[in-house]
This record gives sequence, structure tokens and C-alpha cells, in this order.
Amino acid sequence: MVRVSSDPGSCYFYYPRLVCVVGVRDDAKGTTNFAPVTWATPLSSDPPLFGICLSPATHTHQLVLKTGEFTINFLTEEHAGLASTLGKLSGRQADKVKELALELEAGETIATPSLAAAYVAAECLLVERHHLGDQTLVVGEVQRLHADAGAFDADGVLRVEATSPLLYLGSNRYATTTKTTIRPADPGAAR
Ligand SMILES: Cc1cc2nc3c(=O)[nH]c(=O)nc-3n(C[C@H](O)[C@H](O)[C@H](O)COP(=O)(O)O)c2cc1C
Repeated sequence: MVRVSSDPGSCYFYYPRLVCVVGVRDDAKGTTNFAPVTWATPLSSDPPLFGICLSPATHTHQLVLKTGEFTINFLTEEHAGLASTLGKLSGRQADKVKELALELEAGETIATPSLAAAYVAAECLLVERHHLGDQTLVVGEVQRLHADAGAFDADGVLRVEATSPLLYLGSNRYATTTKTTIRPADPGAAR
């Protein structure tokens, strides 16, 4: 295979990534705003910390710092169109919940709802923020999870044969996993 070297920024080498839709209350407008954020990652299991990278240009950035809480919502492949539309609109101008007729689930430990369409959603309290280049890394402590029954197996692993997670490839292109789980024979190889 011929390898090509290039400058960072010449391709989306860090994708595919799960599409994570961040929900945050907009109390001034009495609504909840949702925006896809794929630069999102678990950071610690004890305490359970989850980080999202937000551009200060997003309305979500402003709202998360204001309310101090947010939800993270993971969608399946049939919601590629929804993710794309949520990423094109800004809550500054649009009430995305109203315009897209989004069904919400009330929070249990926080006042921010999650998306009913998500196969799993988590309620997070803002614990830290760090400015990194042109982004803010916002760190939330996960308070509660809500998952579709049957989405995860007894080990807590996503059942890809039953649930097709939405992955982002960059440049308005999406994908999902195969329906086959690979279980390497050597347990040391699995992590
Ligand atoms: C699939 C996808 C992934 C995105 N990932 C991020 C991200 O990681 N961080 C970010 O700040 N914006 C990201 N965006 C862009 C925001 O979702 C977009 O700017 C959105 O309009 C912000 O909405 P808001 O102004 O209502 O917060 C992404 C967009 C799409 C479609």
C-alpha cells in the first residue's frame, strides 16, 4: 500500500466517531436546545466523567456554561437526517424542538430533558471547563443513564445486531457498524 503524507487538516483522520447530541436548557426561551457534538469522549469511570468539545460560536456553549448541566444523547443510523439538520440550525435563531417536533424525556436528576429517540442518554452536571485551541472542553459528571431495553447485553456492551449506532465520517457523511460483534480468542486483546 502506498502511504501519502500530508498536513493535519487534509483529511478527517479521527473519524468515524459516535454522534453525540448535546441537550441543554434555554431558560430564556423556555425550550431545550439540541446540537450534535462528535468531539465527545469518556474521560474517567470513577467518577464517571464525559467530555465534549464545544466551539464558543455555538449556542450550546453559552447555554451549558449558564445552566451547568446537559444531556448526551446517542442516535441510531435512521437519525442521520435529524443529526444533520440539528447541526445546520442554531438555537440562537431556531427552536429546534418545535421545528423538528422532537419528543423529549424529562430528566431524573437534572432539569434538562433528553431525546426520546436516543437509544441511550445520560444526564450530566458540569464539573470543569478548559479552553483548548479554538474549542472549550466541557467536562460533565454523569448522574444517570437511560437506555432502551435490549440495546446493551448483560456485560453492558452495545448489541450491534439489534442497535445500529450513528457514526459520523465528516463532511456530512454518516455510517454505522456491521451487525457482527468481533470477539478475539485472546482475552488480553479485548479492551
Ligand atoms: C455530525 C456533526 C458533528 C458536530 N460536532 C461538533 C463538535 O464536536 N463540536 C462543535 O462545537 N460543533 C459540532 N458540530 C456543529 C454544531 O452542531 C453546529 O454548529 C450547531 O449548529 C450548533 O448548534 P447551536 O448553535 O444550537 O448550539 C457538529 C455538527 C454535526 C452535523
